[in-house]
Amino acid sequence: MRSSPPLNLDAIRSALATQSLGQRIELHDQLDSTNREAVALAQAGAEHGTIVLADSQTNGRGRLSRHWYSPPGINLYCSLIIRRTIDDHRMSEWLSWLPLITALAAAEAIDTVAAAHIAVKWPNDLLIGELKTGGILCESGRATGTGSFQVIGIGLNVNGELLSFPPELHAIATTIRHVTGRMIDRNCLLSNLLSELEVCLDELLLRGPERLRLAYLTRCTTIGKIVKATLRQGNEFVGLAQTIESDGSLKIVEHPIPSDGRTAEVQLLRAGDIVHVRT
Ligand code: BTN
Repeated sequence: MRSSPPLNLDAIRSALATQSLGQRIELHDQLDSTNREAVALAQAGAEHGTIVLADSQTNGRGRLSRHWYSPPGINLYCSLIIRRTIDDHRMSEWLSWLPLITALAAAEAIDTVAAAHIAVKWPNDLLIGELKTGGILCESGRATGTGSFQVIGIGLNVNGELLSFPPELHAIATTIRHVTGRMIDRNCLLSNLLSELEVCLDELLLRGPERLRLAYLTRCTTIGKIVKATLRQGNEFVGLAQTIESDGSLKIVEHPIPSDGRTAEVQLLRAGDIVHVRT
């Protein structure tokens, strides 16, 4: 079996067709977390589009304080620094859509490079079938003198074998190579991802979320499913995932519909985690 082509700056740059994303790329053999490093760089003034890339992470951060499994030589772990001037009244729209459009861009790039159909589970899990092949973690910050920034962290399970996952991930994770049977060039995948993401970021900035919302809906496997959400107070809510609203929230309608004449409860979920219960 061929091994995964190494990460290489020249190979990434030769396929890069972006204006701003990836004009500066910091490539490391190992970091604790590319997100942590990108936040530190942003606080020190690093420019929009700077990418931090690592071949492995010792303390990869996942959503909801989870750990992100990050072995060397097979996957993509990267973080992007975003600095855009956003009007105050559009900031919350920008922050809510960043993770969703990153998932959309990553799905498009994987489709192009690996011919694997990727679905998105709201808000930003990348799935093949019902198994996770990637995740996004966005963080925001502000530093004196350099203004506000966002860091978009992307982790993709690319060329690993299923058996190399720790046992607790066996039933929930997969890799692109496992599904396609092909070794994927991570350099090419990253260049494509950056191009797709730049287009999505410009669209969100210049035209707002509507066209992205429609594109996201066609990829989103959550819509039409019965889902279980954990609400802020800790109680669970089961309902039909009906649509994504213009602010990126997931609209869930109580299921089963109450039989006592009561109107079905509706929840608009802005963040958090859901479980797909069934179609
Ligand atoms: C999730 O829990 O689904 C989000 C996982 C995000 C992991 C990526 S790997 C690159 C970047 N650096 C981190 O520490 N986390 C993100």
